[in-house]
Amino acid sequence: MKPLIAGNWKMNGLSASVQEVQKLIGLFSGSVPDDRDILICPPATLVGLFAAEFSDEGIAVGGQDCHANASGAHTGDVSAEMMADAGAAYIIVGHSERRADHAETDEAVRRKAQAVWRAGLTPIICVGETEAERRAGREKEIVGAQLSGSIPAGDDAYVIAYEPVWAIGTGLTPTPGDIAEMHAFIRSRVRDGVRILYGGSVKPSNAKEILAIANVHGALVGGASLKADDFYAIIKAA
Ligand code: PGA
Repeated sequence: MKPLIAGNWKMNGLSASVQEVQKLIGLFSGSVPDDRDILICPPATLVGLFAAEFSDEGIAVGGQDCHANASGAHTGDVSAEMMADAGAAYIIVGHSERRADHAETDEAVRRKAQAVWRAGLTPIICVGETEAERRAGREKEIVGAQLSGSIPAGDDAYVIAYEPVWAIGTGLTPTPGDIAEMHAFIRSRVRDGVRILYGGSVKPSNAKEILAIANVHGALVGGASLKADDFYAIIKAA
């Protein structure tokens, strides 16, 4: 499977950030490799700009969230159709920060993933246990329930991102053995051909080891995707 290296910029980036992505392309000497998929998910305000600038340069652009409806009276929300219109190819749904900050349930995430399909895009559906859940030995139970609840029925393409909540932005990562075990578990629960990304404190120093683990088909990178040098090193490690 072709690896997917996705950057999740979260609530970071202004129009001047175009320069950071130009720098990234420059690091590849202007020729971005096509043996791996590279994706940047900037804030919604930059999706149109980035898609116009970079979609033809081998860097896909994605959204970080969408509303389940196509349009309507939902002040402040953005639909999957709007993301598609702006040039997005993927949309992240169910990131743990959305689940926590906006009380998104598996049911809400499933409806969003369906909306992404409706708009003709690919959802990246995020799952992952908290530290307390892992300490209690419940990580597979939690992730299994999130998978059952968040993946819509149907044959459309999707990507899973396994992101242990306690590893996001903390510098902590599970052991390679723990990642391998969880990814094998997820593999047994999803359709053939579905890519399973690992996310949570992926950096240049650990990317090679993590991306070599069985059933890890790429990474969802937060903090380290904001800097061209770091994101470049992670893409190279794939
Ligand atoms: P991090 O974030 O790489 O900064 O830990 C990952 C994510 O939340 O997608």
